Amino acid sequence: MTKIVSTSARLLVVLATSLMMVACSQQESGDSVTSESSYFNTSLSVSEIMLSILEPASDTLWDNAGWIESAAGYEELYPTTDEGWAFVRAQAAVVAESGNLLALPGRALDNDAWMIYSQGIVDAGLTAMKAADERNEEDFFQAGATLYSVCTACHQAYNPDILNAFDEEDGQ
Ligand code: HEC
Repeated sequence: MTKIVSTSARLLVVLATSLMMVACSQQESGDSVTSESSYFNTSLSVSEIMLSILEPASDTLWDNAGWIESAAGYEELYPTTDEGWAFVRAQAAVVAESGNLLALPGRALDNDAWMIYSQGIVDAGLTAMKAADERNEEDFFQAGATLYSVCTACHQAYNPDILNAFDEEDGQ
């Protein structure tokens, strides 16, 4: 029993010491937390964020807005149930936070236009969430259109090669 107590006491001392060291090193650097890229694990590439997170979520928004003419006639694509709206709202949240993922130190390509485009993704995602909350189809559609133009503008600026592949795949 005493052994266990003294072991945990020692552990506490070790823990307290390391916490103090962290606190000291933070003070020494004097920087704001956001400039500390070492806090973020950005081993997922920009390409991976696009393919696995941002594009699937965005596709859900685009697939659930507007209307199509098919053999069956005119079809509205908007959700028709509470569950449907809750689902697209959650995907809009993924879109919004993806903008922050792109802006993380260690991932952002610069501190300038890249940040404006990343912020544009956040804004479009938040607008789509609000529209989903309000079941506002027109606003939801507009948020999707704005989102699409931010994707295209950033690709144009940073990776023009991507434009063709992206447009073909999307077929919009
Ligand atoms: C802040 C800039 C930026 C924004 C905004 C952006 N992208 Fe990208 N995207 C890139 C860059 C840079 C690449 C190339 C990454 C690479 O190949 O290393 C890319 C690549 C891609 C790719 C190809 C990935 C691959 O490796 O095949 C897809 C798909 C894609 N983006 C989809 C999107 C969609 C959908 C949106 C909007 C919802 C979007 N992107 C918004 C910068 C951006």
